[in-house]
Amino acid sequence: MKTYLVTGGAGFIGSNFIHYMFKKYDNDIRIINVDVLTYAGNLENLKDVENRENYSFVKADITDKDAISKVFAENDIDYVVHFAAESHVDRSIKTPEVFVQTNVLGTAVMLNSAKAAWELEDGSFKEGKKFLHVSTDEVYGSLDNDPNAYFYETTPYQPHSPYSASKASSDMLVKAYMDTYKFPANITNCSNNYGPFQFPEKLIPLIINNALQGKKLPVYGDGKNVRDWLYVEDHAKAIDMVINNGRLFETYNVGGHNEKQNIEIVNIILDTLQEMLPDSDPRKKLVSKDLITYVEDRKGHDRRYAIAPDKIKKEIGWEPETMFKDGIKLTIKWFFENEEWMKNVTSGDYQKYYEDMYSNK
Ligand code: NAD
Ligand code: DAU
Repeated sequence: MKTYLVTGGAGFIGSNFIHYMFKKYDNDIRIINVDVLTYAGNLENLKDVENRENYSFVKADITDKDAISKVFAENDIDYVVHFAAESHVDRSIKTPEVFVQTNVLGTAVMLNSAKAAWELEDGSFKEGKKFLHVSTDEVYGSLDNDPNAYFYETTPYQPHSPYSASKASSDMLVKAYMDTYKFPANITNCSNNYGPFQFPEKLIPLIINNALQGKKLPVYGDGKNVRDWLYVEDHAKAIDMVINNGRLFETYNVGGHNEKQNIEIVNIILDTLQEMLPDSDPRKKLVSKDLITYVEDRKGHDRRYAIAPDKIKKEIGWEPETMFKDGIKLTIKWFFENEEWMKNVTSGDYQKYYEDMYSNK
């Protein structure tokens, strides 16, 4: 039985990954979730799995060397799946140093602890171990001018935001470990995810949540920035496939070939809400295109991201399965069925964040 150490498993993608893995492997794997539970980490996301015998949760900070070494000392970890990070670009513009601390230093601690646990006396590594570093397409910068250009694994890194700079630094550390020590790892660089459990600071859940309350829908700049959207379960599947079938030391781009302008996304959400809400639901009258409000642009806002997922398709056979029109319905349905979740995560600190972020926009 393989033991997975998942970092950041209480966040959006991490919790979806844990659900995906238990659905697929049931009792044939063990998962240890290490998460410090920042504003973005929520154990409610894992209610369905918390009583499983093959699941455990450790509340620890990935920058805490002793705590992380202890997890490795107490468990024979086969795979590390490293999600834990500060993930929101707007926050990184306000507090870059938090991103450096978690994303760079935290990754260094994770790498070093795994290396210490897995290294043999001759400097080689125990068979079958792997560190999968979950990264982002934002490290490649922005595709500003050429509509036919894509990000490949060979595209030079050119991060712009403090978030993407910190993720690029963490990727470089993983690459350095692979080059220097032949440390067994893979990196995945994925495009924008959406789906259940996404925190409503991100575009899609924020628009769904605001629209249902008849609140303004803030669209940055001219609304024509392009993101390449992938349903989160497809990302989870890609990670599982890279762990099992990815060639060591390789990087794989993960993306849905689903490029859309932000304003298109907002319009699709509004149309889908109208379609899905019954006439008897009072929220239906609140959902309106009049709510769309163009606001001041994000500083340094990357214009376009678009992933070429050719390598992962060719080498591993991964392809996205969920069309955006279906994924957005699944997502909205999940938010309809989990109103309480949304209420809980938007109470308290979220209000303050929202006021700080949007009051002068
Ligand atoms: P998230 O913000 O929803 O979750 C991050 C999780 O990490 C939270 O549970 C948080 O508590 C935990 N965490 C933060 N700092 C920690 C620390 N110091 N120690 C331990 N735990 C800590 O993020 P997400 O959207 O699920 O993203 C997960 C990973 O995937 C990140 O590495 C991100 O860069 C990457 N990624 C995200 C996307 C996306 O669209 N969301 C796309 C590509 C890559
Ligand atoms: O590309 C992968 C990245 O996608 C991940 O690495 C990040 O962790 C993740 O947060 C996401 O980054 P983005 O900045 O692209 O996601 P966000 O949802 O914040 O914004 C998507 C687009 O929508 C972006 O162009 C900014 C715009 N936007 C966002 C918000 C929150 C708005 O127009 N209005 C908003 O209120």
